Order: sequence, then structure tokens, then C-alpha cells
Amino acid sequence: MAKRVVMLGPPGAGKGTQAKRLAKHLGVPHVSSGDIFRENLREKTELGRTAEAYMKRGELVPDDVTIAMIRERLSRPDCREGVVLDGFPRTPAQAEALDAMLQELYQARVDLAPLIEVPEEVLVERLTGRRSCPNGHVYHLTFNPPKEAGKCDHDGLELFQREDDRPETVLNRIQVYNRQTQPLIDFYDQRGVLARINGNQPIEAVSAELFAALEKA
Ligand code: AP5
Repeated sequence: MAKRVVMLGPPGAGKGTQAKRLAKHLGVPHVSSGDIFRENLREKTELGRTAEAYMKRGELVPDDVTIAMIRERLSRPDCREGVVLDGFPRTPAQAEALDAMLQELYQARVDLAPLIEVPEEVLVERLTGRRSCPNGHVYHLTFNPPKEAGKCDHDGLELFQREDDRPETVLNRIQVYNRQTQPLIDFYDQRGVLARINGNQPIEAVSAELFAALEKA
């Protein structure tokens, strides 16, 4: 079964939601570039300070910074048997770097690249209604609400809106995706590992389609 998975899809498609479920199913780590950046932002590290201005505007953090960060994470022993990558790669240069890293570290390659497809108007609704907990649990005011309003079901922490989920930044993030990340669809299609998943259905149904694609890979 595929053990090295790269989640593709626009902001708000549900990559994070599905990546967590898939990683649990496979027993491998979920590595989200956005989560690592946000953790560094909270801890005010040098990496966090570098990433902050780009993230606020919805622009991509430069490739060299992002590639070095992911390389460090993938080198840790828990990634030896596999990984579900979420938010990386996002540019052709990152995809090439990932190929080289997997080859060098584990003599391995990407086995599956699920592309979660959702119409643009749905993305805006999903992102502006998203609420997050400081430990990374994710909700939606309408589609996936917490049991108690404003509180995380898992740890009771107060939910907040990500700064880049405000409407003006959301539109820029979608444009950045269309311009810089869409070319990766062809990149993985040509390698024969792309799987198109209908992301415009309930969370459970998306997971079922994703797990079925995994069985076939
Ligand atoms: P990142 O954190 O990666 O954000 P993103 O790609 O924009 O993706 P999101 O987390 O917004 O969406 P998602 O697809 O994971 O959706 P989710 O599951 O949460 O990146 C943030 C920033 O960091 C970037 O802008 C950039 O600056 C920087 N960065 C990160 N990686 C980088 C890289 N590689 N290179 C350079 N810069 C990088 O779902 C969204 C909402 O919808 C939730 O509320 C959820 O509950 C709900 N939902 C999910 N599925 C469904 C469903 N099926 N039906 C209804 N609602 C659903």
C-alpha cells in the first residue's frame, strides 16, 4: 500500500482534514508545512519571523527556506516507513527537491498524490468559516462545528480564526495556488501517481474515496 503520500489541492479543499485521517489509517506521521510554520510563528523562532510576512499576505514562503525545513522533518526516524505530506510541495522546485530527498534518505519515491478538487466558491466559504485550536484541531462553523461553540472538543481550548482566513487574504491564496501550485498536477500525473478525489462532498465520503484510491495505488 502507498506509504508516501502528497496531498494536493487548493487552500480549503480539505487537505489537512483528510491528511490527518489518512496518516492515522496508515500509521505514519502527518507533516503539514503550514502547521510547522505556524508553530514557529507562535514560538517566535527565526524561521517563524522569516515566514510571518509571507503568510500574512497569503504568499508562499521562499523555496530554499521551506525545502530546508521539510528536509529536516523528513530526516527524523518517524518518517522512515512513510509520511503524509500536506501543503508541501507547492512549487515545481519543491517537488523536484522532494524527489531528491526521498531518494537520498530512503531510496523511495512519492507513491500517491491525491488531488482534492473543490469549486472555488466553496473554498471561500470553507476558509472564512474555519476555526482552529492552538493544538491544530480544525472545525467549521457550519460544516464541522465543535460540540460547544468556540471550544475545542479534544482539549477544551478556545478556537480562533487564522489570520490568513480573512476574506481578502483567502482570495490571494487561491490566486497564488492557481499560479504557482497548479503545475504540480501535471508533474504528478506524468509520474502516474495522481488520483483525483471529489472534495465537494461530506468529510466521510471524501475519506472513503481517498482510501479507495490508496488501495489501488
Ligand atoms: P497551509 O496551512 O498549508 O494552508 P493551505 O494550503 O492554504 O491549506 P489550508 O490549511 O488553508 O486548507 P486545507 O486544504 O488543509 O483545508 P482544511 O482541511 O483545513 O499554508 C498556509 C501558508 O503557509 C501559505 O499561504 C504559505 O504562506 C505558507 N506555506 C505553507 N506551505 C508552504 C510551502 N510548501 N511553500 C511555501 N509556503 C508555504 O479544511 C478547510 C475547512 O473546511 C475547515 O473548516 C474544515 O473543517 C472544512 N472542511 C474540510 N473538508 C470538508 C468537507 N468535505 N465538507 C465541508 N467542510 C469541510
